[in-house]
This record gives sequence, C-alpha cells and structure tokens, in this order.
Amino acid sequence: MTPPPVALGRTERFLRACRGDPVDRPPVWLMRQAGRYLPEYRRVRAGIPFLDMCRDVERAVEVSLQPLDLVGTEAVIFFSDIFVPVPPMGVKLEFAPGPVVAEPIRELAQVEALRTVEPLESVPFVFEILQALRRELRDRDVPLLGFAGAPFTLAAYLVEGQGSKDFGRVKRMMYREPELLRALLERLTEMTCAYLNAQIEAGAQAVQLFDTWAGLLGPEEYREWIQPTHQRIAAALDRARVPLLLYVNGGSHLYEIMADSGADVVSLDWRVDLARAAREIGGKVSLQGNLDPCALAAPPSAIRERVRALAAAAAPARGHILNLGHGCLPETPVEGVRAFTDAARALAPEA
Ligand code: CP3
Repeated sequence: MTPPPVALGRTERFLRACRGDPVDRPPVWLMRQAGRYLPEYRRVRAGIPFLDMCRDVERAVEVSLQPLDLVGTEAVIFFSDIFVPVPPMGVKLEFAPGPVVAEPIRELAQVEALRTVEPLESVPFVFEILQALRRELRDRDVPLLGFAGAPFTLAAYLVEGQGSKDFGRVKRMMYREPELLRALLERLTEMTCAYLNAQIEAGAQAVQLFDTWAGLLGPEEYREWIQPTHQRIAAALDRARVPLLLYVNGGSHLYEIMADSGADVVSLDWRVDLARAAREIGGKVSLQGNLDPCALAAPPSAIRERVRALAAAAAPARGHILNLGHGCLPETPVEGVRAFTDAARALAPEA
C-alpha cells in the first residue's frame, strides 16, 4: 500500500476519496449546502421565483459559492434543481415549494409527446453556470460537482404530479402498466445521460445522481426497475475522467445492490450503520454520508464527536466523503454546519 499522502489539495483529496486512493482525511461537503438556512442565500433568493433563480447565471453562481466561505465546505455543487432540464421536454411545472406538474403523466401518448432535447440548447444557462464556477474555483482548488435526478425519482413526481409520502401512484403503475412506466424511464434515462455528459464537458469534476425515492422499493423491484437505469447512466459517462456518486434516501436495504450500479461512491442516509456498510461494500465502492441533518442542531462538541465516530466507522471502506444523509434543512443552525466542516478538517491523518 502506498502511504497516505500528507496535506492534499481539496480537489485531489475529493477525487482520490471517490476512487478509493489513500487520502490524509475525508473531504467534506453537504447536500443542499446552498439553501435557506443561510441568510445570505435568502437575500439573493428574495423576490424571485425558484426556477427563475436557477436560470439566473449570476445569482446561481453567487449562491453556489456562498457555502465555501460561510461554512467551509470543500466542494461546490452548482445551484439548480433536478427538475431544471424537464420543462424543455414539454412538461409544465412550477415550484411551490417542491415541484408541481400541471398535467401529470398517466398515458402512453403523453410519454410519446415528450421532446428529445439537446441540453446545450434547452438549458444553456446550466453550462454557463458550470463554466463560470470552474473559472472561479480553479485558483481556489475546490472541486466542482454536477448532478442530475435519477429517472425513477423524476418519474415519481411526473406521475404523481407532486411530492407524496409513499408515491403510491407511480408504484401502482409499475404493477398495472409496466410498459408505460418503462417507456417513461427510458426517455428520462436518455435525457439524463446527455445532461450529465454535457455537465462534464462544461467542467464538472464529479457528478452525483439523486435517486431520492428509489428507497421506497423492495430489493426485487429495485433490481428490476432501478438498477438498470443507474447502470446505463454509469456506462454512458466518461468515468475515466469523472467519478459518479449515487444517492438513494431510505436505501439501507439496498446498498449491496447500489454497490453494483457502476457508481464509484455510494451515498447513504443516517439509517445505515456506516461501519457495517464499510465492511460489506467498502472494498468495492467509496462511501458518502451519513449524518442525520437534524444532528447539526447539536452543540459543536457533540457534532465533533459524531464526525469522529463517522470517520472511524467508515475507515474500513476504500474511501469516505463526509456528508449528511439527506439535504441540509432550512432550520439548520449555521454554527452547526460550520462545526461539521471544522470537525472534518480536525481529523488526524490516518496512520
Ligand atoms: O445540493 C445542492 O445544494 C444543489 C442544488 C439542489 C437543489 N435541489 C436545490 C433546491 C439539488 C441537488 C436538489 C435536488 C433535488 N430537488 C432532489 C433530490 C435530492 C433530495 O433533496 O431529495 C429533489 C427530490 C428535488 C425536488 C425539490 N426541489 C423539492 C422536493 C423541493 C422543495 C423542498 C424544499 O426544500 O423546499 C425543491 C426546492 C429546492 N431545490 C430548494 C433548493 C435550494 C429550495 C428552494 C427555495 O429556495 O425555496
């Protein structure tokens, strides 16, 4: 084994952790690190609809960068939403505050009417945001992350029409009208491959696939319906250049399958015993996670303890990226987020 290098730069530390190469300590960032818990975000966001803000290159770049200095995160994810590339396909949607679809997809004719679009033409602002961020971050040695929603999670909202506790409608479609759901997933998978590749072209140095709602399925259904979409996306990306991170919320019963998705990093929520996951799949993939976002309400000393415990639990894995188990919540104290990233920096290099 090569000895762990000392004091790596942020970009190299992150990319090495993704690939399972030795590092001095885990890198740290947070899902939803640019968001309403930051007064500075609320100021930029005031008086502008969410989707308009996603299209506003200057504002999007500004809020993407805010967490670096305000809370000390060590990667930047570009400010946007998983639904940004969807309206150009011909789907009317708005945010209130989550996505609301005007005409939920219930028939094959609606799937067939979806447009195949060239991301660079349909959402050019996304790539302008990424290029601008890459210029900003190069000198600061901070990795830039791209992302997309996974086909099932996008489909869940498109079929349901909006968020739901159990997404029963899309699950019933799986059993009653499998051909319809298959056709929809197919279109969304194609779009996602093109979208992520365009992000990589524009400068994303790693990309994360968010399959938030796939954890609602049991292992059999997950294997049949979800895994092939992830595997197709993993195969379509230029992975020699850019690692892929895969996040599923509520996926504690699925992580062994996730480890065979083709992703380099499996991102877990707080219901997972990280030590066990590290032993079981940590030889094959790196892990990301998995603090409960609510734990950031704890006093700084307790957060420091939790971070040490997470790092120790993940140690048997080939790589670990410190993160939350889901997005940072609007109620999160800023000091809690800062304590989280400070605690990561305070971790002693592994002997
Ligand atoms: O992580 C980041 O900071 C990058 C940006 C990002 C957002 N959403 C910004 C956002 C990312 C990667 C997402 C992903 C996303 N969006 C997912 C998958 C991950 C997850 O959180 O489960 C899903 C399911 C969505 C859909 C979505 N967008 C919902 C359900 C909501 C409403 C919930 C809420 O927090 O209000 C959004 C809105 C949204 N997306 C906000 C942000 C910062 C809040 C918008 C605001 O400022 O009002």
